[in-house]
Amino acid sequence: MIETAGILTPAALQRRLRTAVFGHRVFYYPTIGSTNDRALELAGTGEPEGGLVLAEEQTRGRGRRDRTWDSPPGLGIYASLILRPGIEAVRAPLFTLMAAVAVAEALREVCLMDARIKWPNDVVVGGRKIAGVLAECRGSEPRIHEMVVGIGVNVNHREADFSRALLERATSVLIETGSPADRAPLLAAILEGFERRYASLLKGGATDLLAAWEGLAAVPRGGRVVVEGPHGRREGRISGLDEEGALILEAPEGGTMRIPFGEIVRSVWP
Ligand code: BTN
Repeated sequence: MIETAGILTPAALQRRLRTAVFGHRVFYYPTIGSTNDRALELAGTGEPEGGLVLAEEQTRGRGRRDRTWDSPPGLGIYASLILRPGIEAVRAPLFTLMAAVAVAEALREVCLMDARIKWPNDVVVGGRKIAGVLAECRGSEPRIHEMVVGIGVNVNHREADFSRALLERATSVLIETGSPADRAPLLAAILEGFERRYASLLKGGATDLLAAWEGLAAVPRGGRVVVEGPHGRREGRISGLDEEGALILEAPEGGTMRIPFGEIVRSVWP
């Protein structure tokens, strides 16, 4: 029998929350298909920035690249935040990086874990994935008027709670630390970090965010990676991120490659 470590109700979250706006309005569901789908619906009907959809279980949790996100009841954080940044659509990837930074920093601070980020937004501990971010916008305007950032964190999962396919690649706070964690303070810390970085990005640009991301990178500058991007697989050494969050690789034959979106499928470093 799993030892419980507090349920994640809106009241439990709000008791700990020290944000100006994020997470003040919570749409809570014991079970839902996907919190991102619900948040996109709410955003489409005018729900203001900062609204949060929170669930104890998702039956159709979605990951990046058409994957599913296992969301068993009561074990993880399944939450989607509504944003209205009004900035150019080409900068949308920065919000994904920002959410990953907020999650990694909160795991480090609240759970004392060595959480790192694999470009663009996989939060990993010891090479295994502990959290993911799915940012989605509707429409094709040059500026983003509504966006949803979904965050999934594996908190009190035991190995038996992961599907066989995930077992080797996934981990949780409980697996890494040996103790169950209270999800409300962790989510509160994620929302606080996210709100602070969001305000700083809109006011002062991406420099601080990119520096924080780089400090948390699982594969440092100079590390060799294979990346699956819009033009297929590319191999090279990481040279950094640009102002829009794209990955810049040094190609083996010389020169650089810019990968606007995709994922690292293999890494060998230093
Ligand atoms: C990934 O790494 O592939 C992204 C995973 C994102 C999962 C979260 S859980 C809350 C929100 N609702 C969803 O359906 N997906 C995101």
